[in-house]
Amino acid sequence: MEILPEILQRRSVRAYTSQPLDKDQVERIIEAGRLAPSAKNRQEWRFIVMQKKETRMKVMDAAFNQDYVGQAPVIIAVCTTNIDYRMPNGQPSYPVDLAFAASHIVLQAVHEGLGTCCITTFDEQEVREILTVPFSMRVVLLILVGHANETPEPTPRKTLRQVAGKDHW
Ligand SMILES: Cc1cc2nc3c(=O)[nH]c(=O)nc-3n(C[C@H](O)[C@H](O)[C@H](O)COP(=O)(O)O)c2cc1C
Repeated sequence: MEILPEILQRRSVRAYTSQPLDKDQVERIIEAGRLAPSAKNRQEWRFIVMQKKETRMKVMDAAFNQDYVGQAPVIIAVCTTNIDYRMPNGQPSYPVDLAFAASHIVLQAVHEGLGTCCITTFDEQEVREILTVPFSMRVVLLILVGHANETPEPTPRKTLRQVAGKDHW
């Protein structure tokens, strides 16, 4: 079965070198997020790229001081600009839209030879204040991006039989 190499190579990386990223690399990674699909093509997202050490250290604090959060030379806050819009099925669109954008970002970063980790263990209110996020908008997840300083083993996945059905549940 042929699967995209980036999908097979991706791991959550929780140790980074201090090597900075190229400006073009960062731009391509964000561009990948910009091109993601979204419900009704509303694109109600905003990607805040943090590279300044001062900002990253504040965000590390807001992420309960987890040191690998501070190690990553780039932290991308994946934010929504609309928490109210619901899809025709009645469900809120922003978690789905942002998950697509985050996947694009992560897979492009892997394509660039970089490591990533999605982080949701943070105090959203603190991150909102650091990034001056407007009242009605939310910071849904942080993505760490950098040169990996570890080679994580693959984590287990359920089998296809466990997660996929044919014509019924
Ligand atoms: C929505 C989401 C939230 C996550 N939150 C965290 C987190 O707060 N801290 C962390 O270290 N990893 C976090 N992860 C990474 C997962 O733990 C990881 O993807 C999972 O264990 C599978 O491992 P792998 O990414 O190496 O395949 C998160 C991943 C996702 C998709």
